[in-house]
Amino acid sequence: MMKIYLIGFMGSGKSSVGKNLATSLGISFFDTDSYIEEYTEKAIPAIFADEGEEGFRHYESNALEQLSGIEAVVATGGGIIEKTRNKDIMDEDGIIVYLHTNFETISQRLQEDKNRPLWNQDLNKRKALYERRLPMYKQFSHYIVETDDKEVEDIIYEIEDVM
Ligand code: S3P
Repeated sequence: MMKIYLIGFMGSGKSSVGKNLATSLGISFFDTDSYIEEYTEKAIPAIFADEGEEGFRHYESNALEQLSGIEAVVATGGGIIEKTRNKDIMDEDGIIVYLHTNFETISQRLQEDKNRPLWNQDLNKRKALYERRLPMYKQFSHYIVETDDKEVEDIIYEIEDVM
């Protein structure tokens, strides 16, 4: 059974790489954010507003558990590393690939995106979140792939290479 989890900061390309990788491997693609939005019938900013970040994290771990044992490429939310339990869930049945992207590239991609509550705050807070999480992604992952200045195709080849 093949299972690949993509982790990384918001805007690192987990969804676009994930979709293309799944197609290339001929397996299913799941996105934990979409899964949560369908399950709750709410958009992510509304979940954060109504139930707080903790509420969202709860749905996120549940989503991972629901996908347990299923062959797929899974694009996770940028905060998946906020719960150590999530690493145990993912370690059970898959390989965890960290898509590393520089803060400057992410800032250019996301600009003033309003759909991500933890990006929708001042620059110092965005940067502090990025810095705090960097070592956490490294600790969670089995492989690190550099994504700056690379085409999706090249990133996919690199992931397929380490599998
Ligand atoms: C979050 C990242 C988002 C989404 C939510 C929280 C985070 O996913 O799960 O807004 O804590 O970094 P993307 O990484 O897909 O943007």
